[in-house]
Parts: sequence; structure tokens; C-alpha cells
Amino acid sequence: MTLDVAAIKADFPIFSEKMRNGKRLVFLDSGATSQKPRSVIEAEKNFYFTSNAAVHRGSYLLAEKASEAYEGARVKVAEFLNVSQDEVIFTKSATEGINVLAYSFGASSGQLQVKKGDEIVVSELEHHANLIPWQQLAKRTGATLKWFEMNPDGSLDLSKIDELITKRTKVVALTHQSNVLGTTPDLAPIIAAAHAVSAFFVLDACQTVPHQVVHPNELDVDFLVFSGHKLLGPTGIGVLWGKSELLAQMEPALFGGSMIETVTMTDSTWADAPKKFEAGVPNMAQAVGMAAGLDYLQNIGLDKIHAWEMELTKSALQGLRSIEGVKVIGPQGIENRGGVISFTVDELHPHDVGQVLDQYGVAVRTGHHCAWPLIRKLGLQGTTRASFYLYNDMNDVEVLLVSVVAARDYFRKR
Ligand code: ALA
Repeated sequence: MTLDVAAIKADFPIFSEKMRNGKRLVFLDSGATSQKPRSVIEAEKNFYFTSNAAVHRGSYLLAEKASEAYEGARVKVAEFLNVSQDEVIFTKSATEGINVLAYSFGASSGQLQVKKGDEIVVSELEHHANLIPWQQLAKRTGATLKWFEMNPDGSLDLSKIDELITKRTKVVALTHQSNVLGTTPDLAPIIAAAHAVSAFFVLDACQTVPHQVVHPNELDVDFLVFSGHKLLGPTGIGVLWGKSELLAQMEPALFGGSMIETVTMTDSTWADAPKKFEAGVPNMAQAVGMAAGLDYLQNIGLDKIHAWEMELTKSALQGLRSIEGVKVIGPQGIENRGGVISFTVDELHPHDVGQVLDQYGVAVRTGHHCAWPLIRKLGLQGTTRASFYLYNDMNDVEVLLVSVVAARDYFRKR
């Protein structure tokens, strides 16, 4: 399986920029944010050029065009996830989506309410966005936070599943893929256990939706979040998906215009989902830009993209593992993982490694990757992380390997 990466790179203006020392860009930090193709940038620009007005308010032509463009983006997301469009809520980010959920679980009544004595379950794999909102919900409500531990190979330890998921469990919130190690935990038994005790399952799909087909109903999860900027879209836009019968019962977390049904001086009632969760004038151009990103991915095909990323990952893993002094952290092979690799070089601080890589035009993420508990569990100060996407090629892998050797040798000589 191969992609026409030269043609893909040509679609992304950023690859014309020169990096330090006049080097070409070897962008290996798509786990943090992706680069944007011209079609996404144009879609966002064209919204402002041709259709800008506040959605769902005016009765004039531009307001109609803006509403059509914005709602069209919702239809696109719904098709992408194979869900109903009323279940697609636009947020400003995946982080906001999880915060909205965590707030709403505390504020809702009935079966959705998290209260004292209830339990919330996460894992040591989570990045801060899928940990801290749940910590805060537990503190606010008196619920207990529990977590699956991580095995040394980056998988989840399921041996205590019966202790972790009990009749007290109300919410289980787990990542689809570790942003640090690339591991994809075995979620099916956890989802089944959660549902067996009537708990709700929240899937943090930030690292998978940009790279593979993810259909929440097939996975049998109740809520799912992802961000637009990791899937070729602009910043400032994300998606919270939830089953319609649950969204109907959930309290909103943000209040203001557009999300109401009726308002008096003392009280208000809410519109139906998704409007109930979209207070204020939304990030319209960004939603339209994200839809263009989804189009770009679908035109190539997510299956092809995923297969290509795994070839790059396989090659990079082999190369990194053969460099003396380099240690790949987490899984050593391509089973049960995505296109993300964390590694260490000698005892070097990852920031030092990153600085040498930058001299070669190689952009990687270094440090704790917003997943401090995971890094602490590994007994590390941080890692260097390379993450692949559709615009990477084998030459990028080569440059990565050469620059890693250079980093090692530079500091050994000092
Ligand atoms: N969670 C993002 C990352 O892994 C920001 O870099």
C-alpha cells in the first residue's frame, strides 16, 4: 500500500516553507496538530468571503448561506461517523467536549447524574484532557475516581476489571489510542463491562478519528469526542457526539443565545440537541473548514491512509530500534498500535534531542505530552515522540533516523 505523498505534500502550502538551516520540513508532530491542505484554508477563507453572518438568526440571504454551510458541515461529520446529524455537537475542541460532558454528568438528574458514592473510571493512558475534567467532577460531586493501570508494554491491565467496574460505576472514559505510545487498548471487554452495570462509556477518539474509520455505534460507545485540528481542519473546532436519547436527558454546560426554547426574567427552557449544547455564535468558518478536511481524507480513503501510516511506523520502529542508545518506549512492533512512536536517546533530555532534530528540519514533540501520569509511571522525564500522517514518506523516516543518530553523537562527544 502506498500513497502519492508527493502530490499530497503539494496540497499543503506549509511544505514550501524552509526550516532551520534551510532544511525542508519533516513534520512528525501530527499527534499534536496536523498541517492543513489548501482546500481547508480556502474553505475557511471562502466562508468569510461569501457567506459570513451569524447562523440561525437573520432572515437575509447571507444568514441563510451561513446556516447552510454550518449545518452542511454537521451533515458531513454525521456521515463520517455514520450517525444521526442531531447527535453531532460542535465544540471548540475535544477538551471542551470532555469538559461539557463532565459538567453535564454533575448537573443532570436521573440515570445520568454523577453523585456522591458513584465511581468514574479512567486509565493511566489518558492525556490530561481526559483526566482532569473527571478529577474535577469527582471532587465536585464526591464521586470516586478509579483507573485502569498500564502494563509496561503500554497496554491496559484488565486483570482487575471486576474491581474497577462495579455497580457503583457511572462513567468510564478511555482513550481509543494513547497519544504518547500509540497503543490502542483492548476496549471491547471494558465497554461490555460498563454497559453490564448500566455505566456510560466516553471514548476519547482524538488520535484515531483522523487516521481510521471510527463508527461509534459499531463500537457501542455512548459518547465520543475528537478535535478538528488533528484531522486537517482548523483550530477552534471539535466534535462531541452522543446517543440522542442521552443528549435529550443531559443538562447543557454553556448557557446563552441559541440554546434556548423559551426565556423569562427568571427562568429558561432548552432547545433540543444539538442546539442545547451550542450556546452563542459558533465557530462557523472553522466547522466549514473541518468539513473540507473530512472531504480531503475521504477522497484519499481512510483505509489507505491508515495502512500507509502503519508502513511508515513499521519502518521507523525498525530503524529506531537498530540505533544503539535508542530505546522505543511501549510496544516494539506494529500490533495494537497507531502511527505514533515514543523513544529515548541515551539519557538525554528529550528537549535536547528535539533541538538537534530541529537542525534537520524534523518537527517532533518532546516532554510529557500532556500525559504526565503515564510518563511518571514509566519512570521517565519525558520522551521524544514522532507521529505520522498522510503527508509523510519514507524519506521523512530516513531523515528522522539520521537526525536521531546525530543527536546521540553530538551529546556523546561533549
Ligand atoms: N494531545 C496532544 C498531543 O498529544 C496535544 O500532542
